[in-house]
Amino acid sequence: MAETPSLIPTLAQRLKAETKALHTAAERSRFMGVLLRGQMGRAPYCAMLRNLHSIYAALESALARRARHPVIAPVFLPGLVRTDALVDDLLAVHGADWAIAFELLPTSLRYVAHLQAIEAAQPERLLAHAYVRYLGDLSGGQMLRRIVAASMGLPRAQGAGCGTAFYDFGDAASTRALTLTFRAGLDDVVVDDEGADAIVAEARLAFEWHLRLFDELARASGLADTLPTLPALPT
Ligand code: HEM
Repeated sequence: MAETPSLIPTLAQRLKAETKALHTAAERSRFMGVLLRGQMGRAPYCAMLRNLHSIYAALESALARRARHPVIAPVFLPGLVRTDALVDDLLAVHGADWAIAFELLPTSLRYVAHLQAIEAAQPERLLAHAYVRYLGDLSGGQMLRRIVAASMGLPRAQGAGCGTAFYDFGDAASTRALTLTFRAGLDDVVVDDEGADAIVAEARLAFEWHLRLFDELARASGLADTLPTLPALPT
């Protein structure tokens, strides 16, 4: 007899559905809008990379330390790691002094502190941040690569030194394989309802951190002097 499909949403389905509105808000944020329209200069773009570098360095070192945690192990894929690619792009698009040329914004410092706090107290919540970053990079990030290359006058080629290593997960087949493996990993995570609720809430929080970061980046780059200020998040 054919199996009846379950009506209970999986963790992956819940993450997608329950962060949809926040994803739309991130896509429509002023900073992402300027980037998507191909109107961003190198300085604000590098400011974003520099701030993302601090967040990825914190997230990826925490994930590596917790790689054997039962909730993290299914989604711990070394092929996803972005920290070195961000350094590569900062060197290619800006130059060797990137770490002092672009300041770390308050939201990045608080976001890093938040990642360190959850690694210590609730490491399973790191999964939510891996979901928000990596599935974003593997999905929308792929369309951003061409826009970034064209608007910054970077080579169309991919690879180290080209300035778009951040979006490079290999060819289309490798990128798709990583996406499918990450999604399969999400399906393999075993959590009870309460655990799933906490991970979904953390993913919503991860989007909220990004909305604040984009807001600060827009202000710091003079792209958004008319935006209303978002309320601060607890660390
Ligand atoms: C430049 C703006 C962006 C565009 C154009 C964009 C576009 C997309 C697209 C086309 C998808 C695939 C949707 C699907 O398969 O149904 C996607 C998925 C996703 N994006 Fe974005 N995105 C953007 C920004 C972001 C940002 C800033 C984040 C995170 C901070 C993010 C996180 C995600 C995640 C987590 C997914 C996977 C959703 C899922 O299938 O579970 N995106 N995005």
